[in-house]
Amino acid sequence: MILILDFGSQYTQLIARRVREARVYCEIHPFNFPLDKIRAMRPNGIILSGGPASLYEAEAPDINDEVLRLGCPVLGICYGMYVIAQHLGAHSAGAQAREYGAATLVIDAEDALFEGIEGREQRVWMSHGDRVESIPAVLMPIAHSDNSPFAAVRSADGRLRGIQFHPEVAHTPCGAEVLRNFVIGICGERGDWTPGAFAASKMAEVSARVGANDRVLMALSGGVDSSVAAALIHRAIGDRLRCVFVDTGLLRWGERERMETEFAGRLGIPLDVVDASELFIERLAGVIDPERKRRIIGSTFVEVFEREANAIGGARFLGQGTLYPDVIESVSFKGPSAMIKSHHNVGGLPERMKMELVEPLRELFKDEVRALGRELGLGADVVDREPFPGPGLAVRIVGEVTRERLELLRRADKIVMEEIAAAGLGARLWQAFAVLLPIKTVGVMGDGRSYESVVAIRAVESSDGMTGDWAQLDARLLARLSSRITNEARGVNRVVYDITSKPPATIEWE
Ligand code: XMP
Repeated sequence: MILILDFGSQYTQLIARRVREARVYCEIHPFNFPLDKIRAMRPNGIILSGGPASLYEAEAPDINDEVLRLGCPVLGICYGMYVIAQHLGAHSAGAQAREYGAATLVIDAEDALFEGIEGREQRVWMSHGDRVESIPAVLMPIAHSDNSPFAAVRSADGRLRGIQFHPEVAHTPCGAEVLRNFVIGICGERGDWTPGAFAASKMAEVSARVGANDRVLMALSGGVDSSVAAALIHRAIGDRLRCVFVDTGLLRWGERERMETEFAGRLGIPLDVVDASELFIERLAGVIDPERKRRIIGSTFVEVFEREANAIGGARFLGQGTLYPDVIESVSFKGPSAMIKSHHNVGGLPERMKMELVEPLRELFKDEVRALGRELGLGADVVDREPFPGPGLAVRIVGEVTRERLELLRRADKIVMEEIAAAGLGARLWQAFAVLLPIKTVGVMGDGRSYESVVAIRAVESSDGMTGDWAQLDARLLARLSSRITNEARGVNRVVYDITSKPPATIEWE
């Protein structure tokens, strides 16, 4: 495995993505991860990430000297390179050497890092404040750029390397190859890791942990993560897994039936469906504030799930579809990013119900989970499903949530789902859905005046939901959506299209 020590760069996850794409297993840990734990992992190579700090800061993050002496190859990227250089006795220049954006890397010496890369000059992405000004004798330069005399360096014994540019970003076209050269060519990884191979070891782990008389309880949301986690756990321990699906009454059209067909039907995984829609809708009566809606839904969900768990007779374990990005967020030395919305999940459950967590996807990225889901036999309908917020349609109804307004939104939203699927846009879009607005406007239908609701359509392109662009949908598709919604969703006489990206808007309206 390859260990990535994180100095807080916004690109650290991307380093892990590129390494995994080379089919090499890797994990990210904070830069100050204890030495004995690093030793126990027996990494075949270590990558030191970039980071926002400057080596001139008093408390500049640093590694234990021993990390460089473990014997495995080490690659320092940007800040990680200064760390290596500093440990070997280099001097770095100050912030006047700031460089941000595209640069030309000139490769000056042959090195395994650049193996198979055609051409001496390469376009690379730079983003740094300090730069290495002079290097100690044990390091030799292997590439430079206009602004960085030591854009890539290597130690005399060939074990330590540093690069000033960021190979992990798409703006460095040869970057994936550079990282691949490091993990396979230099560290000697085989490059045969797959999410499927990983599944086998996870299943063994789950079945060793969950005893013959134990049970794992799991709340399914309908989303990819919990579905794949459930399918994997079920393969490992069969019907000792009990899945609960809570119908909150806030689901998209056909969602409950889809889950029943997929799980109980096709996969043969028993599913307890709890219809709690009355309770949710009752508690949401008169509530307008989005955060209050979220809190009510979150606590009601926990209550319903707990009641169901007791009815089943309790369980020692709670299954969850936690993914690697969530884990990294919580281990990284970066502070948590500002909270914009409180996301609803079942996070409060384990402490309250004194359950132990089973999280078989903790080491995987979303696309790896999708690949694994396919291998486990889940249908495209589950695996390629677009994200759906825990609080459901409640945060897509601006204003009060009532049964009637839910019905109206569901009808309009169903049309969006159908038309997007028919246009074959599912794979291109991160999400596409309808939002019901709390206003009525005047319209004309036949010879009469109407005074009815407005529906907004939201369609977004994004790679991770953190940022996103509004999708430039074909005008004919928009026209069809508008015409179908006003004709088929009785009570809507106006349709608008949301042309705001994230930021400044969020994807969901609440
Ligand atoms: P926003 O609206 O914050 O959404 O731009 C980013 C992504 O997260 C989803 N989302 C949620 N997911 N619980 C969830 O599990 C929530 O409360 C929640 N709110 C937003 C949203 O659908 C988008 O994909």
